[in-house]
Amino acid sequence: MHKIAVMPGDGTGPEVVAEGLKVLKAVSEKAGFDYETAEFDFGGDRYLRTNVVLPDSAVEELRQFDAIFLGAIGHADVKPGILEKGILLRLRFELDQYINLRPVKLYPNVDTPLKDKSPEEIDFVVVRENTEGLYTGTGGFFKKGTPDEIAIQESVNTRKGVERCLRYAFDYTRRRDREKTLTLCGKTNVLTFAFDLWERTFHEVGESDYPDIKRDYAHVDAICMWMVKNPEWFDVIVTDNMFGDIITDLGAMIQGGMGIAAGGNINPEGVSMFEPIGGSAPKYTGQNVINPMAAIGACQLMLETLGELEGARMMEAAIVATLKKLKGMGAGQMGHSTSEVGDLVAESVASS
Ligand code: IPM
Ligand code: MN
Repeated sequence: MHKIAVMPGDGTGPEVVAEGLKVLKAVSEKAGFDYETAEFDFGGDRYLRTNVVLPDSAVEELRQFDAIFLGAIGHADVKPGILEKGILLRLRFELDQYINLRPVKLYPNVDTPLKDKSPEEIDFVVVRENTEGLYTGTGGFFKKGTPDEIAIQESVNTRKGVERCLRYAFDYTRRRDREKTLTLCGKTNVLTFAFDLWERTFHEVGESDYPDIKRDYAHVDAICMWMVKNPEWFDVIVTDNMFGDIITDLGAMIQGGMGIAAGGNINPEGVSMFEPIGGSAPKYTGQNVINPMAAIGACQLMLETLGELEGARMMEAAIVATLKKLKGMGAGQMGHSTSEVGDLVAESVASS
């Protein structure tokens, strides 16, 4: 029995989460596994009502689950940063979800803005470090508000944090069993401390424990270029928190947009959290127009991590079958309602 905490969150989060759960139910019946869900209402509305972003007890409560399914965080009436830091980043840090796993896969019949690129050419995974780097909040102001003001924001890279992320990426590359190539994305020509540690650890660990995995390196700016020009060059990319944040938005666009892109915040030894990576899109709330494929894809990643491999495979097959049936998905416009897409995927599972 898998225990899943559901956090629909803000804006259109609840609408897409409902479709994810609809498909999850269909898959569980077909693949024959049990799960139970408990809903948590953390997000902007609750914060505005109670003045508390996330009670301390919530983190302890969430630790008791096998996985967390998150819709989206971000509310028009809450200053940017409060909910993101107070909920999303806090959970990533406190639950030590040190991997942010973001597949970049173009499904058939989904529009990509890349001319002449097809599903065979856009199929790689970004492994983003998720608990360190520029995200630790290390630094501060000096003489704030004066003409002499200084703001310092430091990137924290620990040997332990870097190494566990690299090992996860090597293992993932091996399991994926495709090109068996892991590309480190960095900036060794300028960030000569942080990426010196990354690069040394990459080669040390790769040479001693992953001789079957080919190691490649590219600067982050060049990666942005190649992701657009030759995405077929990539199998798995591993990088730090900030670069990973940036290149995965680019990745989301080339795979058809935020309506498709899903990610997992993973603690391989603990509780992981899965989310569509687009935001809460508050202005579309309640209109039944947001593409739920990303949320359904997040459920698929969740099943993979929970070890329900047959269910995950089924879910992906249903996503692909549905996308083939529909026209013009991705790249911004959908042309189908949120619940209609969820129904189609669920039906495809049921009839598979
Ligand atoms: C993401 C988001 C978050 C991040 C924000 C909302 C804090 O952009 O998950 O990529 O920067 O990690
Ligand atoms: Mn981001």
